[in-house]
Amino acid sequence: MEVCFQVWQALSDYEIGRKDLIINLGGGVVTDMGGFIAAVFKRGLDFIHVPTTLVGMVDAAIGGKTGIDLGPYKNQIGVFKQPVLVLIDTIFLSTLNDSERLNGYAEMLKHALIFDRELWDLLTVSHLNKVCNRKFIERSAKIKMSIVEKDPFEKDLRKVLNYGHTIGHALEGYFLELNEFLPHGQAVGIGMIAETYLSHKKGLLSEMAMKNILSHLSAVFHVPEFSKNAIPQILKLCRNDKKNESTKINFTLLCEIGNAKVNQHVSEADVAEALLFLGSLSDLKFTFSQD
Ligand SMILES: NC(=O)c1ccc[n+]([C@@H]2O[C@H](COP(=O)([O-])OP(=O)(O)OC[C@H]3O[C@@H](n4cnc5c(N)ncnc54)[C@H](O)[C@@H]3O)[C@@H](O)[C@H]2O)c1
Ligand SMILES: [Zn+2]
Repeated sequence: MEVCFQVWQALSDYEIGRKDLIINLGGGVVTDMGGFIAAVFKRGLDFIHVPTTLVGMVDAAIGGKTGIDLGPYKNQIGVFKQPVLVLIDTIFLSTLNDSERLNGYAEMLKHALIFDRELWDLLTVSHLNKVCNRKFIERSAKIKMSIVEKDPFEKDLRKVLNYGHTIGHALEGYFLELNEFLPHGQAVGIGMIAETYLSHKKGLLSEMAMKNILSHLSAVFHVPEFSKNAIPQILKLCRNDKKNESTKINFTLLCEIGNAKVNQHVSEADVAEALLFLGSLSDLKFTFSQD
């Protein structure tokens, strides 16, 4: 919030007016914050996003969600406002490290799993460096765009983009409380492993599809070790993630590769089972090789 105040002050000092345009050049943090700064300054200035990270290009810069964190509460303050343009140039990715590439790759895999079977097949046979090309980025960004165009304010369909995020966010929060940083993309990758398990458990996803997905995700995203005793705490964080019905937690689950269903209510016992499954993978982590 302090940074926002500084930027609003600078905009005022430079006498920026309603007809001026703000250009947000940076990763998701910059486009989220810059979008918010522009959206509320003098009741709203137009802005352009120029994302410089893979996450920004395929996800954060698209869809009009702007916002900032309030202390530990993520995206607590924000508004929906669409950029007038999103300008993507893959040249920025040449300086991006592998960990940041992996974060974006996780969201690309998510887009493929919920919407585009062929993209899944293409992404899973490509090396991390190869997925940072224009063809894949454009295809992935267009999936997000097509979803948010149909449901800009997340009334229903847009929730499909939460795949992997219910358990992913809970794990992110859990490790944050331990002062161990689990990057968002990594958390989403691991969340997708658990939610793929749940998709099969709930009878939506075939065993063959589950095995296809898990063999790739578990090779790319390493599950950090956590003890059985951590499960109640992770469940609590899952409950807080969404408005859930009593003892059930609301998920987006897969019915096949390239097709997902929103508003799937899962019992806490089943979520706990999925977390135990994740725990079993963390023991095996050294048997998987990373791309
Ligand atoms: N609005 C949305 O719909 C949406 C969607 C997904 C994520 N997000 C938000 O986006 C943020 C994550 O975005 P991110 O992953 O881009 O993180 P980020 O903006 O923190 O960038 C990651 C790191 O990469 C550096 N960086 C940026 N561009 C670079 C480049 N070209 N070369 C080298 N380094 C570069 C940054 O300085 C930073 O250290 C989170 O706050 C998340 O909540 C928003
Ligand atoms: Zn995400």
